[in-house]
Amino acid sequence: MTTTTKIPIRDVELCLWETLGDRPASSDQLIYLHKDRAFLRRLEAVAARIQPKQMIEIGILDGGSTIYWQDRFQLQRLIAFDIEPDAPHLRRYLERHNLQGIVRANYAVAQDDGPALRAAIAKQAAGPFVDFIVDDASHQHAQTRTTVEVLLPFLRPGGAYVIEDWAWGHHASWPSDLWADRPLMSPLLSELTLICGRGSGVIDRIEIDPNFAVLWRGEAFLPQNGEFRLADHYVARGFSVAP
Ligand SMILES: C[S@@+](CC[C@H](N)C(=O)[O-])C[C@H]1O[C@@H](n2cnc3c(N)ncnc32)[C@H](O)[C@@H]1O
Repeated sequence: MTTTTKIPIRDVELCLWETLGDRPASSDQLIYLHKDRAFLRRLEAVAARIQPKQMIEIGILDGGSTIYWQDRFQLQRLIAFDIEPDAPHLRRYLERHNLQGIVRANYAVAQDDGPALRAAIAKQAAGPFVDFIVDDASHQHAQTRTTVEVLLPFLRPGGAYVIEDWAWGHHASWPSDLWADRPLMSPLLSELTLICGRGSGVIDRIEIDPNFAVLWRGEAFLPQNGEFRLADHYVARGFSVAP
């Protein structure tokens, strides 16, 4: 028997959508959050280690995770992005609770649009760095890689950068014909591992589980102006990280 997990927050219930199939429509009272219980519990445990106050989230969908992160950690600023033009249930939730100053939702922004991401951060961030970044957007190699190049410089030393669903192409629950022609995310994980392995303080540690990878930021200075390139921070010695 399956049970539905609902998480009450203020005047909404967040409903975990725990399968790959299409979710039902959200409403102003019930908003879907696109993760299963174990996934959310483990991800929350990562965030709990840093008790974030400033966060960036890529991939809003209906706003379930955006509402969850803001409420769970009483975030002072959450800058969120999605390529879609609106998330109406989230928008109305933020209006009802006067949270628009805290949660800054940016719509119609592609995750690999560096100038748009940087412009939003310059206007909306509460300081030079955030504590926690979660990429739950396209799950595509090129876009996700560009987002790391754009956003990692905005993560404070000791902060965590999460790439969700990095293992979709390898996961037991993933149908073999789904996204069969798309580049896997695993070469990106290898590339990030090489950066960690160099030991220069860009990424101090990487943790992976079947649902997500966590990049723990080191102390190295990284330019926030768009000049940070992953390839400048490792020595591959012939090891291929090509997608
Ligand atoms: C898996 S859903 C996010 C789920 C949400 N974080 C949650 O837990 O409920 C992925 C979202 O990423 C957005 N997205 C997909 N490709 C994108 C891209 N290239 N740039 C920005 N957002 C993108 C989609 O529109 C969708 O809303």
